[in-house]
Formats: sequence, C-alpha cells, structure tokens
Amino acid sequence: MTDANLLRLKDISVRFGGLTALNGISLDLRRNASLGLLGPNGAGKTTLFNVIAGAVRPSTGRVTFDGRDVTGDATSARSRAGVARTFQITQPFISLTVRENVMVALTAAGMAMRQAHGAAAEYVDFVGLRAKIDDAASGLSTGQRKRLELARALATRPKLLLLDEVTGGVDRPSIPGLVETIRALHAERGLTMVVVEHHMDFLGALVDEALFLDQGEQLVSGSLAQVAADARVRDIYLGDAHV
Ligand SMILES: Nc1ncnc2c1ncn2[C@@H]1O[C@H](COP(=O)(O)OP(=O)(O)O)[C@@H](O)[C@H]1O
Ligand SMILES: [Mg+2]
Repeated sequence: MTDANLLRLKDISVRFGGLTALNGISLDLRRNASLGLLGPNGAGKTTLFNVIAGAVRPSTGRVTFDGRDVTGDATSARSRAGVARTFQITQPFISLTVRENVMVALTAAGMAMRQAHGAAAEYVDFVGLRAKIDDAASGLSTGQRKRLELARALATRPKLLLLDEVTGGVDRPSIPGLVETIRALHAERGLTMVVVEHHMDFLGALVDEALFLDQGEQLVSGSLAQVAADARVRDIYLGDAHV
C-alpha cells in the first residue's frame, strides 16, 4: 500500500459563495519531496493548505494522503494521519508557556503528560527557543512565535509539513537561522514539505520544485528554476516588491 506519492490532489475546487478560490487543482507529491507554492495574494495558497489539512472541505475533488482517501476527514484525523501545518497568522495558546504549548501538541498526538514534559524540551531546543521555554507565548516576538509553531507542528511527528509564510513578519536578521532550521528538516531528515514563501532566495534553500497559482488556477509547475523563469510567472509575480 505504499504509494510513491504521499499526497495526491485530484481536481480540487473550492468555492466560497460566488468566489472560486481554487479551480481544478491536481497535484502528486512524492514522499520526501519539497514543493514551493507560489502566487500573488489571494491566489489560493492558504486555501490549498486548508484543503490538505482538512480545515476546508473542497467543493469538488479528492484528497489522498498516504494511500488513503481523506477527503471527508476532519483536521484532527488528518493530524493523526501525519499532516502538520504552521499558520500564516500564528495561533499559539498565548497564556500557556512555550513548553506547555508543545506539550499540548504532544499529548494530542497521544503522548502521556509525564513523558510530554521532557519530550517538549527537545522540540523547543530544535527550533532554538530554549531560553524561552518557561515564558508565556504572549511575550514572544513574531519570529519566536513562528518557531513555536514549527515546534508544535513537529511535535505531532508529521509525514507532511505545510509551512505558510513562515518568514512573514519575522525580523530580517532572524530569517536565515529559521530557514536553516527548516532546510535541515527536509535535506537531512527527509521530511516532505510544502512551503509558501515569497522570498525567492529563501525558497531556493528549501524547495526543489514549485507550483504557481494565480486566481485559484494552477498556472505553472516544475523545477523552481523553470517556474521562476516562466514568462507568465514573471509578469504576474516577479515584478513584485517581494522578489
Ligand atoms: N473562509 C473564506 N471565506 C470566504 N472567502 C475566502 C475564505 N478563505 C479565503 N477566501 C478567499 O479566497 C481567495 C484565496 O485566499 P487565500 O487562499 O487566503 O489566498 P493566498 O493565501 O494565496 O493569499 C481570496 O479571494 C480570499 O479572500
Ligand atoms: Mg495565504
């Protein structure tokens, strides 16, 4: 039953009332692949993450994860199956400490509380938040919150990690360290990832291939170099201040 593709999207469309946020998206993501998801604001990138994570039910199409049709499964079931994400707008439990936030993720994934206390520290260390482990999440900077989100996502021991603008709002000097942490997850641990990241230089360190969305349509896909060189992509996107 081990499908070479960890994730398959077949003809996914999402409509919000009269708005078509995604239109006929199909994608096969190999195990250990790292895919960049590109496109201007409103292209449908976060909506696609919501579909993969189970937060939005597609109007049409099927989602297959790890050899199983999960289209009807809720976010909790997707998480148990191995899908984890970080949010464009971080959503920590702000009154809990950094350690407690990670413990919530660990216990939700089935770990006993006593064990989770120690295990949480490993994830906190990995993302570089050791000095903040007993601080309330409310006192973290944007960059530290993004690191906490990453720790919480990793604590569910995912097969697939979805990263939504993980460098967004992070102070510039902190970004290379964060990017390096994520790069190692893929390059050294082989974690399968889909990454929304506007900065091409960082994206190049994280992904091999890319998919470009525009107004819910899958416009171009291929190697990152191919996508970045495509005339349509350059027209829509690369004139953008981001790049
Ligand atoms: N829950 C929702 N209800 C209504 N419209 C939505 C919802 N989520 C996203 N949209 C709309 O869908 C389109 C795609 O949004 P989004 O996926 O957030 O784009 P991106 O992440 O690429 O910027 C936008 O026009 C957005 O306003
Ligand atoms: Mg978005």
